[in-house]
Amino acid sequence: MDTKDQHLFEAAVKAQGHAYAPYSGFRVGAALLCEDGTVVTGANVENASYPLGCCAERTAIYAAAAMGHRRFSRLVIVGPGPEPISPCGGCRQVMAEFGDFTVVMTETQGQAQARVMQVSELLPARFTKEDLDGV
Ligand code: THU
Repeated sequence: MDTKDQHLFEAAVKAQGHAYAPYSGFRVGAALLCEDGTVVTGANVENASYPLGCCAERTAIYAAAAMGHRRFSRLVIVGPGPEPISPCGGCRQVMAEFGDFTVVMTETQGQAQARVMQVSELLPARFTKEDLDGV
């Protein structure tokens, strides 16, 4: 992991500490680097009404979008391991709304190599706003 990712990884681990996961016990953190250099973090937030819980990736992206950010360059995600976290399909779709940035998947135990992929690789043939044009 290069220095830039190390900084984002540390921010994601810190956010993971804020995860609210009393039902699954599965704690996830995310750090999103916006194109202007701002880092916005997120953690999963669960609910007694289970389907209302939100993944770490989405809380980070929605928080950033709500702050006015639209262009992202990197998203580092950290899961409890031992394998790098793999974002769910819903989060892949939410990522794809904001372009084709780099996603770095990691785990907290520090055993596995980070997996680095573009959003377009995580969700090929995705549904985008272009699909809504001209209908
Ligand atoms: N979760 C995330 O926050 N990100 C992922 O990439 C996968 C799953 C959360 C959702 C739920 O709170 C818990 O992990 C178990 O699925």
